[in-house]
Amino acid sequence: MYDWLNRLPKAELHMHLEGSLEPELLFTLARRNAIDLPWAGVEQLRDAYAFNNLQEFLDLYYQGADVLRTEQDFYDLTWAYLLKCQAQNVVHTEPFYDPQTHTERGIPFEVALNGISQALQDGRKQLGISSGLILSFLRHLPEEEALKTLKQAMPYRDAFFAVGLDSSEMGHPPSKFQRVFEQARGEGFAAVAHAGEEGPPEYIWEALDLLKVSRIDHGVRATENPKLIDRLIEEQIPLTVCPLSNTKLCVFDDMAEHPILELLERGVKVTVNSDDPAYFGGYVTENFMALHDSLGMTREQAQRLAQNSLDARMAP
Ligand code: HPA
Ligand code: ZN
Repeated sequence: MYDWLNRLPKAELHMHLEGSLEPELLFTLARRNAIDLPWAGVEQLRDAYAFNNLQEFLDLYYQGADVLRTEQDFYDLTWAYLLKCQAQNVVHTEPFYDPQTHTERGIPFEVALNGISQALQDGRKQLGISSGLILSFLRHLPEEEALKTLKQAMPYRDAFFAVGLDSSEMGHPPSKFQRVFEQARGEGFAAVAHAGEEGPPEYIWEALDLLKVSRIDHGVRATENPKLIDRLIEEQIPLTVCPLSNTKLCVFDDMAEHPILELLERGVKVTVNSDDPAYFGGYVTENFMALHDSLGMTREQAQRLAQNSLDARMAP
């Protein structure tokens, strides 16, 4: 089954580049940049990947991202991910990156963006993987910081096609970023947002009505609100679901409780994605495999999930 799932042509629509930083590359970059790490080695770092919630993960994710300093570092990170895409027949990807994770620690805006953009361009030419970058705002930071980031990004507008919203969800509703998204959409960017991962269904309503997003990232807590489910079906709004992430961050205690196949059968446009593959135990194929192992996903269901991901692509 693994090989069959691996060969299935797929798109990945929810993947944070900083979350694809494997421990081996993290240590390589730390050595290259002469950074001291608090972990003795790769194994000890991997042992730290045990999370009770989103925030515990984010603390380690931001700490890990600190080894990314030069354009080459961002290139190597992105290229390693694209090679994974090639190995798993991900023919199209729309990854996120968080500019503020880097500008906040003094890395110039263009350093991260140039490295990532160059790798995506090489991926198109050398690997035949189509892609579009999503610039994602950190929702735990103030609105003004997001506005400043959007302004900083404008000279590089061709390097990304959409804006997103991620980081700590609780207490940071989509409404906080209504003006930022209005500006971004006014500039012609598509919009997506994380909502209903840890946050309540109301955050999903807000993302749709206030931020006017075309896809919801995660969205699994929509199951608590039947009216919302009806709307997602009626408007065929894609959900970029990340099964291994949801169990690693204790959104669900066990994969057997995951609602993705029920949502699929009800007609919600759900897709399968890896979120932060280096931290959550696998890339797209491993996420599909977990659904097979724990929920009895059939090949026919896998084909529909993969087709949904291809249908939900937005990058030009
Ligand atoms: N949720 C919110 N923010 C994130 C995530 C996530 O799963 N991964 C990286 N930033
Ligand atoms: Zn995410």
